[in-house]
Parts: sequence; C-alpha cells; structure tokens
Amino acid sequence: MIGTVYLVGAGPGAADLLTLRAARLLAEADVVFHDALVPKEILALAPRAELVAVGKRSGRHSAAQRFINKRLADAARKHRVVVRLKGGDPLVFGRAQEEIDFLRARRVAVEVVPGITAALAAAAGLGISLTQRGVARSLAFVTPRVGAGEAASSWVGTVLAADTAVIYMGAGQAEAIAQALIAAGKSQRTPAAVIENASRAEARAAFGTLADLPRLAARLSGGPVLIVLGEVLRNAASAEQPATARTRQAR
Ligand SMILES: C[S@@+](CC[C@H](N)C(=O)[O-])C[C@H]1O[C@@H](n2cnc3c(N)ncnc32)[C@H](O)[C@@H]1O
Repeated sequence: MIGTVYLVGAGPGAADLLTLRAARLLAEADVVFHDALVPKEILALAPRAELVAVGKRSGRHSAAQRFINKRLADAARKHRVVVRLKGGDPLVFGRAQEEIDFLRARRVAVEVVPGITAALAAAAGLGISLTQRGVARSLAFVTPRVGAGEAASSWVGTVLAADTAVIYMGAGQAEAIAQALIAAGKSQRTPAAVIENASRAEARAAFGTLADLPRLAARLSGGPVLIVLGEVLRNAASAEQPATARTRQAR
C-alpha cells in the first residue's frame, strides 16, 4: 500500500467551517470520494484531485457501502493521499466504522479528521446552547433511521432520558416521531425546532412544540434537516438568530 485514506469531516456546509487540517489534505489529495451534501466551494479546495461523488443525493442511487469500501482500498494502492470527505463529522452517523474496519483489515492506513457536526452548527446558528446550567445537563444525538435487517433503534428511550435531543435524519418521519415520543410520555408541549441547511446561506429554522412537529416539517424545502427538542429552546422563537433566515412560529 502506498497511500493513506483520510476520513475527513467536511462540516455542515459553510466552507469556512472546515478545519485547517481538512483544507491541507484536500489541497494535497490525489482523489476525493465525497458525499453529495459537500458543497462545491469545499471541493474546489482539492484542485489536483479526481473527484468521485458517492452518496444518496448525488442524483444516482447511493453507491453501495461495500463498493465504496473497495474503491477506497483500491485508490490507496495507487495514490498517496486518498480523501473520503463526509458531511459534518465523519464519526457521527456517517458509516465511518465500516470503512475503517474494511481498510484496516486490508492493512490500509486510515486517519480521521474531525468536522463540525450538524447539531453544533445548528445550535451556533440559533445562538442557543444545547446544554444550559440548571436547564439541560444531558444531550443526545439520535436517529430513528435503521438499515434493512438491523434491530430497531432505541432512540425513543434515549430522547426521553436526555434533557436536549437532536434528531438526525428524522424530518421525513416527523409525524411518526412526534407520535412515538408523545405515546412514550414526552410532553407534547416540549419546545421543538426544525433547522434546515444549518450554517448555509439558505438556513431556515422553525419553532414550536413537539405536537407541532409535523406542521413545522411540512414547510421544509428539501435540504438536510435536524429536529431539536428540549427546554433549551423555551425562548428560542424570540431569540436573536443572526445566522439563520428565520421562519418564526408562535407556540
Ligand atoms: C447521514 S447524516 C450525516 C451527519 C453528519 N456526519 C454530521 O456529523 O452532521 C445526514 C443528516 O445530518 C443532518 N444534517 C447534515 N447537514 C445538515 C445541515 N447543514 N443542516 C441540518 N441538518 C444537517 C440531517 O439530519 C441529515 O439528514
């Protein structure tokens, strides 16, 4: 093997939220395998590299994970710097472990470069701390999404146990999420927000309660979305939110 595969976090979208290490590796990269959500401005930081789109939103079917794993290993046989560029942080809901395990089993050197995960970009855009003294001391990142043949996710119990919950990949199931949580005992008046395109110019946020979630999600325009639940949002609809174009919603 001549190359190293770098699993690099591209951050939530804004190019200037990329780490300096990520930018340096992109500049050196021979080949970049990137998720569909990675914006062009970030890909432009890899002028020498062959760019290969692998991901659900690239307009094709998601390249099967096994195929991506194999392509990474093959690329490391030919190239010195192979970048696998993933939205947000590579180790948060990014299937990175499958790539790491596959590559290590084939003695391919792997390094991970962290990125800003979407939840932290959304909180920053709203100017709302996800933990707050006396209000929220626990924070959970969950997704209801499970792959075919996998055991059901324990996300409901996790959301109930956490003071603040951030739900990834859930906007398409907003109604089912609200129903499941309310049925499990979460107050339907729990403050809720949906944040679309966090950190990007077209960022939007809408606020309401858990019972409002389906209505909040219905207004979205197709970008990536997070759902945030918890008392930290209690005054959010009236807070200053400099980094998002707001959709205000009365509770
Ligand atoms: C496959 S997960 C990848 C998460 C990524 N590794 C991270 O750390 O942010 C994709 C989901 O992340 C969330 N997401 C990613 N970027 C986002 C953004 N800019 N704004 C809101 N949600 C985002 C959405 O829930 C989306 O469905």
